[in-house]
Amino acid sequence: MISQAMEKELLSQLNAEFYSAYLYLAMSAYCSKIEFNGAARWLKLQYDEEIGHATKIYNYLVDQGVHVVLDAINQPPSEFGTVLDVFTSSLEHEQKMSELLNVLSDKALREKDHATYNLLQWFVNEQVEEEATVGEIISKLKLVKEDGYGLLMVDNELGSRPAPIPAA
Ligand code: FEO
Repeated sequence: MISQAMEKELLSQLNAEFYSAYLYLAMSAYCSKIEFNGAARWLKLQYDEEIGHATKIYNYLVDQGVHVVLDAINQPPSEFGTVLDVFTSSLEHEQKMSELLNVLSDKALREKDHATYNLLQWFVNEQVEEEATVGEIISKLKLVKEDGYGLLMVDNELGSRPAPIPAA
């Protein structure tokens, strides 16, 4: 059993995860348009991963006996600039998500809601990994700058990303 306040917060986080998925799909579509197909594949897999995150929260809410009423998902941008700009936007977004999850974890602790706190710790750890991965991609893109061959290499590497393991 979770409190009504926590239920509201988790429904909002569920919406934020769906927005993340939507944002990555928009980024993927944009990269397909500018012919960075490796980046497009990477971002599409990130979309899948975000759907997994949303589903993890959804399943938790259902297990807690909550009637999940879904909210509208905001429209993401459709233009992102260079590939470096795409991943910079991704990092900024993930940093905001980490902030939301930290605030939520604090609330769970204040409420002594350890079940929700445990769920949120999975997400907090996941954020560390996501920020590190995107940060690494940004470093590589900064290194190659405008060099066509370098960009092609990075794009190829992004295209070899394996499919994510579904979140339990
Ligand atoms: Fe669901 Fe990228 O955080």
